[in-house]
Amino acid sequence: MAGDLVERGGVRVTQIETTRRVKALVPFHQHAPHVVSMRFRRYAMLTIAFHSMARGNFMPAPYKVAVLVGSLRKKSFNRMLANALSELARPELSLDIVEIGALPFYNDDLEADAPAPWLAVRERLAAADAVLFVTPEYNRSVPAVLKNAVDVLSRPFGSSVLRGKPAAVVSASPGAMGGFGASHHLRQSLVCLGVNVMASPEAYVGNVTALFDDNGALNHAATTEFLKRFVGAFHAWIARLSKS
Ligand SMILES: Cc1cc2nc3c(=O)[nH]c(=O)nc-3n(C[C@H](O)[C@H](O)[C@H](O)COP(=O)(O)O)c2cc1C
Repeated sequence: MAGDLVERGGVRVTQIETTRRVKALVPFHQHAPHVVSMRFRRYAMLTIAFHSMARGNFMPAPYKVAVLVGSLRKKSFNRMLANALSELARPELSLDIVEIGALPFYNDDLEADAPAPWLAVRERLAAADAVLFVTPEYNRSVPAVLKNAVDVLSRPFGSSVLRGKPAAVVSASPGAMGGFGASHHLRQSLVCLGVNVMASPEAYVGNVTALFDDNGALNHAATTEFLKRFVGAFHAWIARLSKS
């Protein structure tokens, strides 16, 4: 976004500054036809971007994170949490909820002519740099809708779009244990699927009903600080795995 400020290696650069530097170059070509000027402008932009990158002085594109929410409720606290995480993760991470409520139950017989919602969700996940799971706990385990999504994404055998992806799990509950059981049942499946789940920090958000205002906005300072640290660690985790 224009005016956004980035700090890399102690040097600060803003989008506005880049634009100013391009404009400063343009007058040399004021005599040229418009099309030449536009070409020159594009060339100047690319040159500056190249030199900025060479100096390590640029704003990298955010990592694309597919978010799977384990609740279908309109007023789901986990969805509120996912939205709050999305706000806190910017600009390094771009969080995007992938809807999983309309996925037909996994059935191997359907693979020969796989249902369109399966293909769509597999495509979304394949295009993502990482996955974030935000889930309630149902009967000390993973809600069926989320387990079904994991099953759909893990197949066909040998073509799982989850394999090797950096991932993190956040669970939340009105209870004090914050969905600990769901988080670990989910981790069990993810480990078996070769998903690179961030081990720590762990995030079990307890007493979740007390953390949001009537508009669904997070209004609890300590939780906000904790979640900021969590998304910071997740960003570092994704960056580390993306380099290797
Ligand atoms: C079928 C079912 C089972 C539940 N089991 C648990 C449980 O094991 N542990 C827990 O902390 N909460 C449990 N709950 C309560 C949920 O944590 C609570 O409804 C929560 O708000 C659901 O998340 P959501 O607000 O994102 O929909 C259960 C709720 C349902 C509907």
